Amino acid sequence: MLIHSASQLLTIAGPPQRGQELGRLGIIPDGAVLFEGSTIQAVGPSAELLASYPDAERLDAGGMVVMPGLVDPHTHAIWAGDRAAEFELKLQGKTYLEILESGGGILSTVRATRQATIQQLVKQTSARLWQAFRHGATTIEVKTGYGLETETELRMIEAILQLDHEGPWELVPTFLGAHAIAPEYKDDPQAYTDLVCREMLPALKEFWETSTFNRPLPFVDVFCETGAFNLAQSRQILEQAQALGFPLKIHADEFDNLGGASLAAELHAASADHLVTSSESDIASLAASGTVAVGLPGTPFGLAENHYTPAQKFLEAGGLLSLATDLNPGTTWCENLQMSIALACRYMKLSPAQAIAAATINAAAAIQREDRIGSIEPGKQADLLLLNVSDYRHLGYRYGGNLVNAVIKRGKRFPLPAAELEVQ
Ligand code: NIG
Ligand code: FE
Repeated sequence: MLIHSASQLLTIAGPPQRGQELGRLGIIPDGAVLFEGSTIQAVGPSAELLASYPDAERLDAGGMVVMPGLVDPHTHAIWAGDRAAEFELKLQGKTYLEILESGGGILSTVRATRQATIQQLVKQTSARLWQAFRHGATTIEVKTGYGLETETELRMIEAILQLDHEGPWELVPTFLGAHAIAPEYKDDPQAYTDLVCREMLPALKEFWETSTFNRPLPFVDVFCETGAFNLAQSRQILEQAQALGFPLKIHADEFDNLGGASLAAELHAASADHLVTSSESDIASLAASGTVAVGLPGTPFGLAENHYTPAQKFLEAGGLLSLATDLNPGTTWCENLQMSIALACRYMKLSPAQAIAAATINAAAAIQREDRIGSIEPGKQADLLLLNVSDYRHLGYRYGGNLVNAVIKRGKRFPLPAAELEVQ
């Protein structure tokens, strides 16, 4: 298939983009891309590719932007129930951590999720993943963390694997058994930490080795926060996970700064996420490491708070910055990564080009898949979007809607309800 006549073909070619390099979109005006099966074969000006591949099946992009599929490297997309009542409490002034402390928040979703069958989890999550996919996310990381007991955590992992198999998207699983202290261990957080290390992680490893065929091990993540896991407990869990061979992630500095960001850099985690209250020295140690900083602007927005990840500080320090939705029932129920891009432009002070690179090639790096996805280059997987606009800056400028005209995943086109190109 040869897609041609893109007003702007955003290749975003090259390695993940560090510091002030962020925003290099590698634009080919009147661009074209050729792919065979699921692999990109050639990229260049339309005139050149049309002449070189006269027999290829053609798709006329008709002046639309063509870009790599968006990558969402941080979601809690799988859960049961909702927290609409807590939303009202928050609007009346209760904080996220107060609600968690009183047994609500994550723990209320845990109660609903423990009761759900795998079929119920798959069905409810599938609807959300379709929303994400329709809005352009072709690869989506999904965390467990609403079981907080071995059986339900593994059921969530199984549901993620089943959804990955059934849907057009590609899912990247993350084990987040350390999302909150399980209610049974309310008065003994250390005992729950030990349970994660001694029972859950080995059980996950065994499940993985016996049930999946040659699939890379899932990530292991920890919520390092007041009221969840302290720094020593986070270190204990991540070091144990690393000893078992799991790649690492961390939720750090979302509300309080406990030192999780620097821990991520020290342990060579793939990413450290949230980073709202990170200090200058956390920023410096992350920037000096290979760990990707993931900003989640939907979260403070969803909580009606005013503090966002200081993205420009990470860039000035030379860090690798990415973006994700954080889709979850408590802080930000929004499947639309285009919305995160729009929020990042306004509140993290990124340009549209920076936000787009952060949500493609750098997001791929945050899940260690940058060799295969996140840019349009020969040899990479054909994960592509056609947008209903001819100037990429409309992504960021406009918000709340959907600019995606068509999604191509692994070379296969998934038709979406037709929308006309708005000529600019
Ligand atoms: O990333 N911080 C922890 N986890 C989520 C919220 C999950 C929830 O409230 O259910 C987050 O914001
Ligand atoms: Fe999160």
